[in-house]
Amino acid sequence: MANRWTNNLTRADVTPKAAFLNRRQIIAGSVGLGAIAAGLPTNAQEALEPNTLEEITSYNNYYEFGTGKSDPAKNAHKLDTTQWSIKVGGMVDNPGDYALDELIGGMTVEERIYRFRCVEAWSMVIPWHGVELADILNRVGVQSGAKYVAFETVVQPENMIGVQRRVLDFPYVEGLRLDEAMNPLTIMATGIYGEPISKQNGAPIRLVVPWKYGFKSIKSIVGITLTDEEPPTSWNTANAREYGFYSNVNPNVDHPRWSQASERVIGGGLFAARQDTLMFNGYEEEVAGLYEGMDLAEFY
Ligand code: MTE
Repeated sequence: MANRWTNNLTRADVTPKAAFLNRRQIIAGSVGLGAIAAGLPTNAQEALEPNTLEEITSYNNYYEFGTGKSDPAKNAHKLDTTQWSIKVGGMVDNPGDYALDELIGGMTVEERIYRFRCVEAWSMVIPWHGVELADILNRVGVQSGAKYVAFETVVQPENMIGVQRRVLDFPYVEGLRLDEAMNPLTIMATGIYGEPISKQNGAPIRLVVPWKYGFKSIKSIVGITLTDEEPPTSWNTANAREYGFYSNVNPNVDHPRWSQASERVIGGGLFAARQDTLMFNGYEEEVAGLYEGMDLAEFY
């Protein structure tokens, strides 16, 4: 079950490659889904060395489970992911409460190895599995006039220690412009490293928008709403000066309190040199056209 993403992983021996590929095939086979090459431009498919599964699942931001990087790994086991359903509403032809399988069943699950850049200036490379958000939106039928997609994370106060502490206004909410949501790079991830996505990483389904700061990639989604107005987003509501709606990775626009020109690579070791941050996190060729004519310092 070769695809272009895995073929490129010539140096990706963090997890022994044979074991990883086998596991992927078993998982893909058991649910009857194949990993099929994405029709993406070549520079989105360059070889990237993923972080280890351990790094990806033990250094997280998921404020519903606490603000420390290791809090989600400690606390997220309490998240109840059974009987998951997603409420789809707003400007769609087929609104309703969808069981996860109704929403994504039968869709092509692909592996996407993406750079992941947090607004806090750290980064990882993560091998996700998921479906294109565009496929989901096409399934529910986007009505003409819709311009934005709003997302909402589950709230389980009894299971989420951070919700009890009210560090943010929960539920965590996020949004994309419709053309950003429809871009083939935008996925809804259900797996990591060929395994179902861990709870601390946003089980059972989370958004991944690789050219935007990580906080746009909202976890454990229970709501998707199509609107004609820019929806509120959690970090923008908490601090509009520091966190804009767009939040595209941009080394030339600093956060008011720190530079965004470089990033610390998780797993690189304490004394590793920082690496330069890339425009649109390295996905400029695929997405720069979305922002033609916009002042990226103004629409940050
Ligand atoms: N989604 C929810 N619901 N709650 C959060 O606190 N944190 C965001 C984003 N999605 C967050 C969230 C931030 S700041 C980042 S950097 C990424 O999740 C981290 O994703 P990861 O833990 O899978 O690396």
